[in-house]
Amino acid sequence: MSEVIWGLATSHVPSIGAAMDRGRTADPGWAPLFEGYEPARAWLARRTPDVAILIYNDHANGVDLDIVPTFALGTAERYRVADEGFGRRPVPDVVGAPDLSFHLVQQLMDEGFDLTVFQELDVDHGFTVPLSVWTPNPGDAWPCPVIPLLVNVIRYPQPTAARCYALGQALGRAIASFQGAGTVGILGTGGMSHQLAGARAGFVNPEFDHMFLDAIANDPEKLAALSREDYIREAGSEGIEMIMWLIMRGALNERVRTVHTAYHIPASNTAAGLALFDNRADSTD
Ligand code: DHB
Ligand code: FE
Repeated sequence: MSEVIWGLATSHVPSIGAAMDRGRTADPGWAPLFEGYEPARAWLARRTPDVAILIYNDHANGVDLDIVPTFALGTAERYRVADEGFGRRPVPDVVGAPDLSFHLVQQLMDEGFDLTVFQELDVDHGFTVPLSVWTPNPGDAWPCPVIPLLVNVIRYPQPTAARCYALGQALGRAIASFQGAGTVGILGTGGMSHQLAGARAGFVNPEFDHMFLDAIANDPEKLAALSREDYIREAGSEGIEMIMWLIMRGALNERVRTVHTAYHIPASNTAAGLALFDNRADSTD
């Protein structure tokens, strides 16, 4: 048995990572966003899991746009930080957990999720920025091995929110049946509302985001029932990244305790959000 002890949802805006890498987090424009992260970071620093699973999307940096799998899992020993055109971020490469990866591939396939498998993968800002939100000063290594679970949110048609939620539920069962890991943290990443190009470039929707932040904790089924078009209309063409939060939420218990939420506009062109859930049924601290 392995146990999911927490779920962390966070935006992955690349400039959040750049602000950290360049020592700008106390600048007036950035300070409120980073102050909003503090309670979550402090709580997480005392609850490092044995392994983490990070659900994210690549942005044509690690995977060519010609071949975009709907769902994929990394099985590598290590994942390099991708060079997105400005050099690699000065953060550690990622140590994987192949034993758990192979178990997850097997179990999820058996449950009808036909995953693509990456034996080699460079991870872009969609992956490294959430790691930095969790652990601002990793030193030479991230706090634990991390497995990438990739989702296509950049090419049409993206998977439905309902399919993402169902994948999360299957992921939760697959983790529970693994003998080797002990404790597991799950990160769901992307969002919140944003649109980077086209006539609605710069679009954000705080009303939708606040509804989403509440429902991801208390009524994820409501979010799973929204269509792809609902997400794009209400959250912008890139706001559909939020369907990845539903995979994280599906892997948690029906009832979770919200430890902390944060919301800030803007990070770059994007509404940035964070939600941290304690998944330990008997937790008292
Ligand atoms: C921005 C947001 C993203 O989600 C992304 O992948 C790239 C850029 C932005 O707001 O700049
Ligand atoms: Fe993105």
